[in-house]
Amino acid sequence: MAESDYNQRVPEPFQDPITATTRFCAVYGQPIQHSASPAMQNAGLAALGLNWRYLAFEVPPDELRVALNGAQAMRFIGVNLTVPHKLLALKMVDALDASARTWGAVNTVRFEGRDRRGRWRPLREFAEAPRKVRSLGFNTDADAISQALREDLRLKLAGAKILLLGAGGAGRTAALKLASEKVKELFLVNRTLSKAEGVAKEIRRRYPAVKVTVGYPTGSVNLILNATSLGLKPADALPFDEKQFSISRTQAVYDMIYRPSRTRLLKLAKAAGRRTANGLGMLLYQGAKSLEIWTGKNAPLAVMRRALEKPVRKPE
Ligand code: ATR
Repeated sequence: MAESDYNQRVPEPFQDPITATTRFCAVYGQPIQHSASPAMQNAGLAALGLNWRYLAFEVPPDELRVALNGAQAMRFIGVNLTVPHKLLALKMVDALDASARTWGAVNTVRFEGRDRRGRWRPLREFAEAPRKVRSLGFNTDADAISQALREDLRLKLAGAKILLLGAGGAGRTAALKLASEKVKELFLVNRTLSKAEGVAKEIRRRYPAVKVTVGYPTGSVNLILNATSLGLKPADALPFDEKQFSISRTQAVYDMIYRPSRTRLLKLAKAAGRRTANGLGMLLYQGAKSLEIWTGKNAPLAVMRRALEKPVRKPE
């Protein structure tokens, strides 16, 4: 199934047309054209009965600031940020929610206006565009990681031993979040050793109770978590070295990649009888939380999941 299927196969979820009162959200990234977020978020917005739309824009990093200012000036409800914008945005928003401060990245921005009493309120609460507007940055990725591991793999994080592959943006957030969940031991493996060492150092400083090792475990683990991009392409190698670690030494495998829905890693794990899940849950939970931040309503999770699953699950 072609990657562009999110653009081709998703049925229009809205009954009402776009009018002069339609409100907008968007995702910015580069590249962006294969993003699943518009399909998921528009399904959610339609199910909530909102006359809002969620758009996707290809924004180069050197124009992120002007793109954020543009959305603010046009009184968008909010935006999501994806690769390569999550760190850059930290310095570009007017204020940071505790989630963005804790995890050091912004994937969700909510625009807020000043009400008559001088309080900042989400733009959805204003019938007429307020004069003064600010941007507030959140991070919904980190919570989505632990939620997906708990719900999709039935994994108990406290006390767990985890082999984490990848120490880029996603790997760092995962490592810190897992440490905050009181895992017992983390093994960090990354092609570029210095990045894994940097993450290990940060964990030792912030979460000293967690034992962190750079390199493969000698014994068994409860989970392998793939946060590298290896597996996105069919010809990719496995994200770990089978000479140094055997899949039979883990109980479960989570791959943050959701397309393809079954990577080489997940196939290997499944064949070895391990519990497996792909990154669809993470995508869903981070998006659901963003929707809740913007709308103030519970996200219609089942509807949003269905919008994602249609194009993601492909016949093998
Ligand atoms: P993201 O925000 O998705 O984490 P990233 O920060 O670019 O993106 O991180 C990509 C991850 O995949 C990194 O861990 C990267 O390893 P390096 O830190 O050594 O770059 C890993 N990765 C990408 N291509 C790889 C490859 N061919 N072999 C091994 N690891 C790879």
